[in-house]
Amino acid sequence: MRPTPLIAALLIATPLLAHDGVKDPQVMARMDSMAAIGAATKTLGDMAKGTTTLHQAKARMARDTIVTQSGKISMLFEAEATDPKSEALPNIWTDWEDFTAKGDALKATANALDFTDQAALAASMRSLGGSCGACHKVYRK
Ligand code: HEC
Repeated sequence: MRPTPLIAALLIATPLLAHDGVKDPQVMARMDSMAAIGAATKTLGDMAKGTTTLHQAKARMARDTIVTQSGKISMLFEAEATDPKSEALPNIWTDWEDFTAKGDALKATANALDFTDQAALAASMRSLGGSCGACHKVYRK
């Protein structure tokens, strides 16, 4: 299965655009990972809304990206790295167990994504969005 040029370009281009000027390599790495999650979520969200056609292989690829990247959250955030451009809040490291539990919750929600049809995907995307929000609300500026 080869990614289409469009999706591949999206996954590669987004982090570069978002991370202009970030100097710390560990901050860069966790932002890259989040940006990949963001691009994959957008791909799925567009299919859920019907903006793009629901395509099983592309949906699977996006799901796999979120599962893989969310599995790296505890590794990527373990170091208390900082950068003026970072939006990470310091309570990540004081409430580490809760933070990583929210990462695990994202992985579980991504694994449970149902893209059998558009309605199922739309319902799934609401829980996925909930997982992003649950963490961002507390740990992201
Ligand atoms: C366990 C916590 C957690 C979860 C779950 C989570 N995020 Fe994040 N996310 C963060 C933190 C913290 C940052 C800020 C990182 C920084 O700037 O150093 C961030 C940053 C981002 C960014 C900005 C990346 C950049 O270019 O700077 C995007 C996009 C993003 N998240 C998308 C998502 C989406 C979409 C989901 C759900 C599918 C999600 N995140 C779930 C914690 C989380």
